[in-house]
Amino acid sequence: MPDCEVASMNDKARKETILSGMQPTGKLHLGNLEGALRNWVRLQDEYWMYCCIVDWHSLTEVYADTSELKESVFAMAVDFMAAGLDPEKCAIFVQSEVKEHAELHLIFSMLITVPTLTRLPTYREKKDDLSLDSYGFLGYPVLQAADICIYNAHKVPVGKDQEKHIWLAKDLAIRFNQTYRKVFVEPEPLFTPIPLILGSDNRKMSKSLNNHIPIDFTEKETEKRIKSYYTDPKKVRKGDPGTPEGCPIYLLHQLYTADAADKIAPPCRTGELGCVDCKKQATENLNVALRPIRDRRAELVKQPDYVWDVLATGRDRATQRAQSVMDKVRRAMKTDYRYKKR
Ligand code: TRP
Repeated sequence: MPDCEVASMNDKARKETILSGMQPTGKLHLGNLEGALRNWVRLQDEYWMYCCIVDWHSLTEVYADTSELKESVFAMAVDFMAAGLDPEKCAIFVQSEVKEHAELHLIFSMLITVPTLTRLPTYREKKDDLSLDSYGFLGYPVLQAADICIYNAHKVPVGKDQEKHIWLAKDLAIRFNQTYRKVFVEPEPLFTPIPLILGSDNRKMSKSLNNHIPIDFTEKETEKRIKSYYTDPKKVRKGDPGTPEGCPIYLLHQLYTADAADKIAPPCRTGELGCVDCKKQATENLNVALRPIRDRRAELVKQPDYVWDVLATGRDRATQRAQSVMDKVRRAMKTDYRYKKR
């Protein structure tokens, strides 16, 4: 049975399923784009892809103020498509629209101990920053495991920080299969080399640090943000020799400037290229690279009905797949009580 019914793709070539998830916490920035999305866009041709906007996961942080959630979900769908995810090739949908995620989460929660969850570094590191050390937050990785297993995904493209969560999903799949009978595929992480992108303060790019370059920045705003970037403190004026390694602007050049190793690094080292000019070139090249994405974004924002329709179609495809897996779960657990389909 096909995982999702999409006419235009080379279905025969697709063997495995991928589930990827992202929290709708504000608009996408360069770090998300280069770190995750570009990769997803590449994968959509080879796999059955399910791209999930995990709004329930973001409740662990924003549960008390959900006023911006709908807008963030919409913005994320727009960003996904603007970056090149094609709704003809993959299912783009919202987690809370497919209730089976919650159903499997509950069943998985029976198969894991509380100490296993409290030992996870992601839990320990974040727990003190949260306003509420909730039951929901403790169960975050269990819900993530359900996200993955409800589609019987083989691979999950994630950053290294998510390694333990994928391991836990695999553990839960194995545990279920051993306790009842084999229903689940054992998922594996798909680590892909992620280019390093730093924010204006030379720390990891993040919205909360306000050191980021959102995709929907105008070219002017991008220029302003890049002007504010940290550079080699020893290079004060043009003529001073610089060190491209360790300069966040040079990292941008490596991504967006052809031949950066020949054109940017040597003149920076000799002092011939000053930081002002160097930033100007980085800005121009970045703006050129982002232009098609920004243009598509602007178009999509003008068609909200289309965007919500894409999410509805994605929901239907995802639901079909999730229900078939959930039926198997119920049969394996002998809880398939219903004699008549609702
Ligand atoms: N925890 C992931 C993150 O913070 C988001 C996520 C939720 C996810 N469910 C997922 C990622 C399922 C991959 C697969 O990035």
